[in-house]
Amino acid sequence: MDDHTTDHTLEVAVAALQAGRRTTTRLTDAADAELTVQHSPLMSPLVWDLAHVGQQEELWLLQQGAGVERTPVFHPTIACLYDAAEHPRASRTQLPLLDPRESRRAVADVRNRVLDRVARVRAQDPQQAAFAVAMVAQHEHQHDETMFATHNLRSGDPLLAAAPTPPGRVVPAEPVLVPAGEFLLGVDPVQEPWALDNEHPQHRVHVPAFRIGRVPVTNGEWAAFVDDGGYEDPRHWTRAGWAHRREAGIVAPLGWSRDGAGGWTQRRFAVEVALDPAAPVQHVDCHEAEAFARWAGARLPTEVEWEKACAWDPVLGRRRRWPWGQEAPTADRANLGGHALGPAQVGAYPAGASAYGVEQLMGDVWEWTSSDFAPWPGFSPMLYDTYSAPFFGGGYRVLRGGSWASTPVSVRPSFRNWDWPVRRQIFTGLRLAWDA
Ligand code: AVJ
Ligand code: FE
Repeated sequence: MDDHTTDHTLEVAVAALQAGRRTTTRLTDAADAELTVQHSPLMSPLVWDLAHVGQQEELWLLQQGAGVERTPVFHPTIACLYDAAEHPRASRTQLPLLDPRESRRAVADVRNRVLDRVARVRAQDPQQAAFAVAMVAQHEHQHDETMFATHNLRSGDPLLAAAPTPPGRVVPAEPVLVPAGEFLLGVDPVQEPWALDNEHPQHRVHVPAFRIGRVPVTNGEWAAFVDDGGYEDPRHWTRAGWAHRREAGIVAPLGWSRDGAGGWTQRRFAVEVALDPAAPVQHVDCHEAEAFARWAGARLPTEVEWEKACAWDPVLGRRRRWPWGQEAPTADRANLGGHALGPAQVGAYPAGASAYGVEQLMGDVWEWTSSDFAPWPGFSPMLYDTYSAPFFGGGYRVLRGGSWASTPVSVRPSFRNWDWPVRRQIFTGLRLAWDA
């Protein structure tokens, strides 16, 4: 096994931290009123995410371990406003938050202190320092994706411009067979030093044979489900899913409207666009995803099946670092980085296929799985010890693969995201699976 330590130096971690800040800056480069208003009760005001990123950076990189800063940038009476566990998103505009100017200044002050400290600790334990910096970088990249979701729910002038993605292509309709057999679930810290606590420990699991969709479910396929009365027929839905669908009045993915000519438009970043039938469906909750799967005679994959289809090389009997191999993501392998503002068409990334031939596992849309969020056997928490553990067994579903708004820093084949099954303002879609 090669290790990737040259890709995981302190310099690379600092670059990831700085890349996150460029996106944070772009996502908060708006008038004060846009940053302080509640665009949706599901989301924080953008100014909260901005300052929270800096408050967490100070907590994990300046206040833990040796060399505690005497006067913190975030005084304890301010820092507590940015505790996500303490204040629900819908309540955050009522808090006496830092204003946009104060927030920008605070996050910049923290960053400058961090860069100074990195220069000082470089000689001591570069490996440990690199993990802490990379962990904090991942946190900022995750909040950047959250801020993309907030922007997507804004009304008024679109503040972001989309970059083009490669065109799709027709892919074989037959799903991909993954034969029964063992594989290594999760990652080894030597191979993947910046994996987070819930991706460990790596362990061998036997996975029965299954089939999995070559690409995610598309808007066109979803429109057929709607037209077939899929939202009106309780037989496709779980009991909880049907109750939620009725209560919430859900009749189509979030943001879909009829165009008056039998088709659909979709509101995206405050712009109404024609729905692209060849693009993966986005903004469906887990209940909708399960109903679609049942209607289609399929099911959602488990997260273990998903990870095997993504990372396992059955010929070499080892994991790949990315679905396509060891090389870093590039623009022809995956739609990542937040530039596209939406998923690419299916078939757009043949160079991104996994060993089994499954495509678009990284980027485009998060994929719902049938798995509840729970620890791998032998779990132990990392430095940021409340990142995963408080959420295990809490009714959260696992999502895999990242979206167009994720980055190569924030997602990888072993990365496990989680959310409530009713959530759909995030960039979620699905891929089908079948027993074989
Ligand atoms: C991993 C996306 C579920 O954003 O809610 C951010 C990550 N934890 N700040 C989230 C997280 C603390 C988390 N998810
Ligand atoms: Fe956070």
